[in-house]
Amino acid sequence: MKISVCGKGGSGKSTIVTLLAGEALARGYQVLVVDSDESNSGLFRMLGFDQPPTPLMELVGGKKSLKRKMGQPSVLAEASILIEDIPPPHLLKRDGLMLVSIGKILQSLEGCACPMGVLSREFLKKLALKADELVIVDMEAGVEHFGRGVETSIDSVLIVVEPPFESLEVAKKIHSLAAGIGIENTWAVLNKVPSEEIARKLEEELKKRGINVIGCIHLDPEVFKSSVEGGVVSKGRAAEEIRDVLDSMLSRASQQPSS
Ligand SMILES: Nc1ncnc2c1ncn2[C@@H]1O[C@H](COP(=O)(O)OP(=O)(O)OP(=O)(O)O)[C@@H](O)[C@H]1O
Ligand SMILES: [Mg+2]
Repeated sequence: MKISVCGKGGSGKSTIVTLLAGEALARGYQVLVVDSDESNSGLFRMLGFDQPPTPLMELVGGKKSLKRKMGQPSVLAEASILIEDIPPPHLLKRDGLMLVSIGKILQSLEGCACPMGVLSREFLKKLALKADELVIVDMEAGVEHFGRGVETSIDSVLIVVEPPFESLEVAKKIHSLAAGIGIENTWAVLNKVPSEEIARKLEEELKKRGINVIGCIHLDPEVFKSSVEGGVVSKGRAAEEIRDVLDSMLSRASQQPSS
């Protein structure tokens, strides 16, 4: 199963990715996190690694080289890729948790992020999974990745929605773009929820936009603390609440016909 975690900037995508990865790992899954956000670089720390992986972009000769190859039908030579085929500096591993990164924009005037989108799309499309493997993709903020086709091989889209209204509008766009490419498993998870009243309101607003809520993660001081100190959130309310989110996702996804 390949899950894309998306939503408005700062809504908590990387936090939800980290929490989901930790929970899936505890259930015995081999979890590959794909860092597909070209701007932020802190995900490796949140997952408990002390350095980032070498970006996959370097496997294909860097951004300039990929830009030249973008018109070709295949930017990665192999027809399909297994996780174990990804060479070590590009694949970090720790107790069943694995991390790859597509690439980061490091310099000003470096040009657009389109090559990263192409590489994310091709990599995810060719990645063949075994039954106990789960892929969780930390997407860049907003909706541009849909325009680049990154989600074409994704089974499930999880939209992270936080209280500000703007988050609902981004959710609506993501939902309709996901439907447009035929993804039926698109759900929202509420995050940073301060009260039951706000949770109800958000759920109502999402329902009006045709989006089902799969779970609710409250505002949790443990999450905030770990973002200051660095490292994994393994205790606290959010770490408990993510269990129900993963349960619901796995059970609903298994009710959909497999493609
Ligand atoms: N449930 C929560 N409770 C408290 N703080 C939270 C919660 N979820 C996220 N945060 C905090 O909100 C901030 C943004 O979270 P995070 O980096 O996960 O968002 P993001 O959507 O990945 O951001 P970006 O768009 O920049 O990649 C962080 O400081 C994080 O600790
Ligand atoms: Mg992030």
